[in-house]
Amino acid sequence: MDIDIFTLFPEWFEWFFTQRHVANVLAGGSRLELVNPREHTPLSAGQVDDTPFGGGAGMVLRVDVLDSALRAHYGVDPVELRERRRVIALAPSGRLLDDALVDELAAEPAVTLLCGRYEGFDERIVEHFASDVVSVGRYVLSGGETAAMVLCDAVLRKLPGALGDERSAQEESFSAALGGDPEYPHYTRPAEYRGWRVPDVLLSGHHERIAAWRRERSRERGAAPDPPAAGG
Ligand code: ADE
Repeated sequence: MDIDIFTLFPEWFEWFFTQRHVANVLAGGSRLELVNPREHTPLSAGQVDDTPFGGGAGMVLRVDVLDSALRAHYGVDPVELRERRRVIALAPSGRLLDDALVDELAAEPAVTLLCGRYEGFDERIVEHFASDVVSVGRYVLSGGETAAMVLCDAVLRKLPGALGDERSAQEESFSAALGGDPEYPHYTRPAEYRGWRVPDVLLSGHHERIAAWRRERSRERGAAPDPPAAGG
């Protein structure tokens, strides 16, 4: 998979690139590239944003700056780019990222992520350059960078070779193997701690009963409203 991330803060991603599953997929032939629009701005003094027409707080990423950066990187008019690859603008108002969208994106050969900053993008960037607008939750982050990391983390761990054990991604929360339900609870040694015992069935060695127990716990979690705060 080929992912390009357009960000004014490429240094934020240095730590992310060192994470095991990210390093694994990069070693397996996937590509992650960072592009800083500031390096392609046609404006003086590295300007990339401007005050919003109509007034209001904050700064808005300029459409001419993104146009130049995308054009310099891909060598085509960015208006045509979204016919060749998914171009995703990250914004709080977008389609909510869920497991189905992660699967959809993991099947794409090439994706471009646009990270907004400050008050976000000039709307013409979204209208004319982006194929999708994606949100990682209904709250406002200080920029699209952490949202891009969330998206990449979720997508890359679905790729072959990302995780040590391929089963980890197959039977996990919201996967088809669990009927879209959250994952069942896990336990490890010690089997008893401060009087808190691991469910007997998990110690039984009886694979069918264990599978049935896990399926049932997943279903319960899926049917339940949002879990209460721990200890509450
Ligand atoms: N940029 C700022 N907030 C965001 C969010 N919640 N999701 C995606 N991009 C964002």
